[in-house]
Amino acid sequence: MYDWLNALPKAELHLHLEGSLEPELLFRLAQRNGVALPWPDIDALRGAYNYHNLQEFLDLYYMGADVLRTERDFYDLTWAYLQKCREQNVVHTEPFFDPQTHTDRGVPFEVVVNGISQALEDGRKQLGVTSGLILSFLRHLPEEQAMRTLEAALPYRDAFIAVGLDSSEQGFPPRLFQRVFDRARAEGLPAVAHAGEEGPPEYIWEALDLLKVLRIDHGVRAAEDPELIARLIDEQIPLTVCPLSNTRLRVFDHMRDHNILSLLDAGVKVTVNSDDPAYFGGYVNENFHALYEHLGMSQAQAQALADNSLDARIAK
Ligand code: ADE
Ligand code: ZN
Repeated sequence: MYDWLNALPKAELHLHLEGSLEPELLFRLAQRNGVALPWPDIDALRGAYNYHNLQEFLDLYYMGADVLRTERDFYDLTWAYLQKCREQNVVHTEPFFDPQTHTDRGVPFEVVVNGISQALEDGRKQLGVTSGLILSFLRHLPEEQAMRTLEAALPYRDAFIAVGLDSSEQGFPPRLFQRVFDRARAEGLPAVAHAGEEGPPEYIWEALDLLKVLRIDHGVRAAEDPELIARLIDEQIPLTVCPLSNTRLRVFDHMRDHNILSLLDAGVKVTVNSDDPAYFGGYVNENFHALYEHLGMSQAQAQALADNSLDARIAK
């Protein structure tokens, strides 16, 4: 079963490039850039990977991203992730990046986007991994800053396939970002948004009705609202679910409690993704393995999940 799962062609639709920064590369970049780290060594950093909720993880994730300074750093980060895709038979990926995490530290937008884009292009040519980049806004910051980020991105319009919304969810509903998503749509950019990870089903309704998203990132709390589930099934709106992330951030206490296969069997278009693999203990295939081990996922269910991922691509 493991070999079969590993060989299954699949797409990854929910991956934060900053969350694919493995501790070894993090320490290497810190040394290369002369950045002082709060952890004495890799083991100490790994020891800090013990979170009780989304915010505790995000605090660490933003600290880790501080080692990313140059175009080459963003290239190396993206290239390392694409090699994982190749190893895991992820034939297509639509990764997120958070420009504000970098521009707010003084790293120019073009440094970030050029490094990532060059690696994605080399990934297409040298590894055969197709891709489309998603520019994600940080929802814990004001909408005006997201709007300025979108304006800074427009000269690089061809580097993106969509915009997204991530970071701390509770208290930062999608409705706060309606104008920036309207503007992105007017520029021809489709949208996705994190909703229903820690936040309530209402945030999923808002993402659909106000931000007009094509996919919901996470969305597992939709299960609390039967009317919403009926809509997701009726409109076949994809959910980019991240099982290892959800258990590490205590959205579910244990993998055996995860609702991904119940949603699949009910007819929701769910997909399997790794979110922040360096921080949550696994890439896409390890997420599939966990569903097999703890939820008894069948080959037919795994095939349906992989087929959904390829079908739910924005970049076709
Ligand atoms: N940024 C990186 N990972 C995230 C997640 N799981 N939820 C919200 N924002 C994120
Ligand atoms: Zn995410």
